[in-house]
Amino acid sequence: MITAAHNPITATLFELFTDAKNDKLRIIKGLVKSIVRPMQPEDFKHAYLSISEEQGLYLVDLIKKNKLKNIVEFGTSFGISTLFLAQGALETKGRIITTELIASKAEKAIENFKKAEVSNIIDVRIGDAMQTLQNHIEPIDLLFLDGWKDLYQPLFNMLESNFHTNTIIYVDNANMSDTQKFLSVISETEKYHLQSMYGGKSVLITYKQ
Ligand SMILES: C[S@@+](CC[C@H](N)C(=O)[O-])C[C@H]1O[C@@H](n2cnc3c(N)ncnc32)[C@H](O)[C@@H]1O
Repeated sequence: MITAAHNPITATLFELFTDAKNDKLRIIKGLVKSIVRPMQPEDFKHAYLSISEEQGLYLVDLIKKNKLKNIVEFGTSFGISTLFLAQGALETKGRIITTELIASKAEKAIENFKKAEVSNIIDVRIGDAMQTLQNHIEPIDLLFLDGWKDLYQPLFNMLESNFHTNTIIYVDNANMSDTQKFLSVISETEKYHLQSMYGGKSVLITYKQ
């Protein structure tokens, strides 16, 4: 359980989770708009849409157990998941590249990373992930997919040449229809192993060894 004490990361996460709880009304408004037209990232410019504390603590463990260092995140929002990634990366001496389309969210995330004293290991790229990660040439140990779901497939394809046999791809919102299409394409390649978690909310993709 995250409490205000401990260290700057958990103290910042405590504040963010408290604020995120007040966020539900804004999310409902976004969903109401989506009845008349498809949802746009702009509809959620104030919404956290973050992973849960349980998922975050799982990510910390995953990074530590597998000694993951080079981490790429699609979908920063206000930085809740990034702070969990940073908590793991501090132990492995790793680094994180995270990318967010909406500048105001990315700027708030940058403030949160300063508050948590982890800015030195996080590179925030503001803009569309398909552009901000386009020239990525370094190996990726962990790819965390948590942005708009229709981009999971093109982003995966764009970054696949940076994967190695121990790369782990964590796919959030695996139960959404665009993600399901993506996962069914991935499972057909027979190259990857898929492990469902949290009743299908998340899926871990690893290479078949
Ligand atoms: C589900 S939220 C991310 C939540 C965050 N990972 C967390 O757990 O705290 C998805 C975020 O992806 C961002 N996003 C959507 N499309 C994007 C794109 N093409 N490039 C970068 N970010 C994008 C949205 O603006 C939104 O803030």
